Amino acid sequence: MYIKSSTLFAGAFALCAFAAPLPDCDEDTTSPGTSNAITKETLIAIEPKTASCAASPKFPGECADAARAAPAINKAFETYKITSKGEQAALIAYMLFESGNFTYNRNHFPEPGRPGQGSRMMAMPPFIKKYATAVAGAEAVAKAEAAGGDAGLNAVLELVISDDEKSFGSAPWFLTSTCTPEVRKGLEAETVDGWHDFLTKCVETTAAPERDPLWTAAKKALNSGN
Ligand SMILES: *[C@@H]1O[C@H](CO)[C@@H](O)[C@H](O)[C@H]1NC(C)=O
Repeated sequence: MYIKSSTLFAGAFALCAFAAPLPDCDEDTTSPGTSNAITKETLIAIEPKTASCAASPKFPGECADAARAAPAINKAFETYKITSKGEQAALIAYMLFESGNFTYNRNHFPEPGRPGQGSRMMAMPPFIKKYATAVAGAEAVAKAEAAGGDAGLNAVLELVISDDEKSFGSAPWFLTSTCTPEVRKGLEAETVDGWHDFLTKCVETTAAPERDPLWTAAKKALNSGN
C-alpha cells in the first residue's frame, strides 16, 4: 500500500505520526538516520512469522501479528521519542527475540513460567513494577499487589500488558529510563558493538549470536524505507 501525500488534504498530515503506510508524509522534515512509521510490511520483512498468529494456538490471546503490532510500536516510539532508525531497529529486534516473534506477552518457560514476568520485552517483575508505576500510577500498582504473592505479581503485569501500546512500550521505556547516553549513541550508530553494548551493559544479558540476525534484518528493513 502506498498513498501519495499529494493526494491528501493538509489535515491528513496529522495522521503521519501514527498511521502506517504514508511513506511520503514526513519526507521533507525527516533528517537522515530518523525513521518514518513502521508498517506491518516492515515487521514482516524483519520476521516473516509475524504475518500471522495462526501458528500460535497455544497462547492465542497473547500473540500480536504485524498488523496489530505496527501501530502499537509507532505509538510507543512516539511516546518515548525513539526517532533514530538504529534505536528503533534494536528495540524491534529485542522485542521480537524476547516475545518469540510477538507470540508471548507473559513468561511461560519453563512451564508454568515466572509469575509477573512479561510484556513484549519479557521484563522481570521488578522492572514490570517500575514500568507499571510509570504508566499506570503507584495507586494502581499498590491495588494490584494487594492480591499478594504470585497473584499480586501477575496483577501488576496485567496493568502493562492489557493494552498493546503499553506492552510494546516497555522496551522503549526501558531504553530511555535505564540505558546510558553512550549505549543509546551506540545503537544510533548501528554498529555491532553498539548493539552488543546495549545487550550486555543495559539489558544485562549476554550478546548471544542468535540475537544478531533479527537486529541485522531490522536495520536492513528500516534503512530500505520499508
Ligand atoms: C521466531 O522465528 C524464528 C525464525 O523465523 C524461529 O527460528 C523461532 O523459533 C521463532 N520463535 C518462536 C517462539 O516461534
